[in-house]
Amino acid sequence: MTLDFTGFKDEAAKLLNVNLDGYKLKRVKRRTESLMRRYDIDDYDQCLRKLKNDVEFRAAYLDHFTINTSEFFRNPKSFSHLREKILPQLFANFSERIKIWSAPCSNGCEPYTIAIILTEMGIDSSRYSILASDLDPEILQVAKEGVYGTNSLKSVPSEIMEKYFTPLDQDKDKFQLSSEIMSKVKFEEKDLINDRFSSGWHLILSRNFFIYLTKELKAQLTQKFVDVLKPEGYFFLGNTEFIFNPGKYNLDKTHFSFYQKG
Ligand SMILES: C[S@@+](CC[C@H](N)C(=O)[O-])C[C@H]1O[C@@H](n2cnc3c(N)ncnc32)[C@H](O)[C@@H]1O
Repeated sequence: MTLDFTGFKDEAAKLLNVNLDGYKLKRVKRRTESLMRRYDIDDYDQCLRKLKNDVEFRAAYLDHFTINTSEFFRNPKSFSHLREKILPQLFANFSERIKIWSAPCSNGCEPYTIAIILTEMGIDSSRYSILASDLDPEILQVAKEGVYGTNSLKSVPSEIMEKYFTPLDQDKDKFQLSSEIMSKVKFEEKDLINDRFSSGWHLILSRNFFIYLTKELKAQLTQKFVDVLKPEGYFFLGNTEFIFNPGKYNLDKTHFSFYQKG
């Protein structure tokens, strides 16, 4: 049997019990092929066999389609720690403008959360910059529009909702983020695996991205991020992500999800 993409997609949809037609086909194809490259899979037949036989691959494949999911204050405890400890420390220890990078940023919830926190802390925007980057131009467009559904807003405290979000007239389940917050984040298209990084970051968030990568790539990328982090700067991972040997990268784990460069 030699499957083309449509045949593969139909078989995969049955196997996974998901309706892949709900996704943009071009995007599903692109995502499938990028995952095939990552796992050294040559054709759709082989990919389907792996989906049938390899539980881990099946999970990775499914995740690949929800890879853009993000939300404001994702893992609220980590963002509380950021607000209470990490950000005050950075502003106290460095006199220069604090450079923050959300990589990857998906639909913008993460960098906008940082902008909301800093605004709530009363820190003037001349004291920091927030860069947010992602590989996917479509999701960056969503980020720049700043309109969010209730799924992305589950963890937003009600006083923050009232202050910075306005329900749309035409759809009350969608909310426009305030231009004050949106103006504090700059977006950029960037492939974290293949593109070069600029340096001098005080805080890098790379959350819910390493989970999609092989061990080898994760190690390479950790080094790539550490190389551009300032000494005493912080690296902030997602709740299910860990660096197994932080000392190897000159990192010290200071708190759940937070690593400081020596
Ligand atoms: C699950 S989201 C993470 C968003 C956010 N950091 C969070 O934790 O909520 C993963 C993002 O990684 C992006 N991505 C995947 N491969 C990438 C790459 N090579 N370079 C940059 N971004 C990539 C996807 O487009 C997606 O938006």
